[in-house]
Amino acid sequence: MSLIKTITTIAFTFSVLTSFAEEHKHHHHHTSPIEGLSPELRQLLGKEMRALQGGMQSIIPAYISGDWEQIAKTAHKMKNSYILKQSLTDAQIKELHHSLPKSFLKQDHQFHYLAGMLEHAAKHKKPELVNFYFSEMNEACVSCHTDFATHRFPKLKKEEKGHHH
Ligand code: HEC
Repeated sequence: MSLIKTITTIAFTFSVLTSFAEEHKHHHHHTSPIEGLSPELRQLLGKEMRALQGGMQSIIPAYISGDWEQIAKTAHKMKNSYILKQSLTDAQIKELHHSLPKSFLKQDHQFHYLAGMLEHAAKHKKPELVNFYFSEMNEACVSCHTDFATHRFPKLKKEEKGHHH
């Protein structure tokens, strides 16, 4: 092999490798539109999420002891919790609607609908339905995190289709 050819081959291999690395880096850069929100909104969102988690955790001891009233109260709070419903400035509301894709708002809406259904089931003391909506809500957490929060929960990352390593 001539020297020129060897050098060219090495240079080519190197450029392929670096462009692969670049692409790879790029791929993992913008994982979620959430990361583009202002620090104030993200702080509110995080606070809200931790409150939701606290609510979900408190439902188990209430459920296993038949405390339907407690579940109804917690579900009611979760239903009304979202930061969209808090006292945000007009600019922040605009920012949220502008930055978040429709599917995020849809999933959020669905989640709050389920919380309302859980409240309803608890008020009517229906253990099976309470269990059903509790499980649906868990699924809603995972579903939204899979779409919008893998920067926070990397284990939820889906395998990229048709992308073999
Ligand atoms: C509509 C979308 C959506 C739903 C539904 C949702 N989450 Fe989240 N959650 C997010 C996003 C986005 C983040 C990442 C926020 C960030 O990075 O600033 C997050 C982050 C979190 C965090 C981490 C907060 C922190 O301290 O950083 C927790 C805990 C959490 N969610 C719990 C829950 C639980 C529990 C549920 C269901 C009861 C739930 N979430 C439902 C979108 C959602």
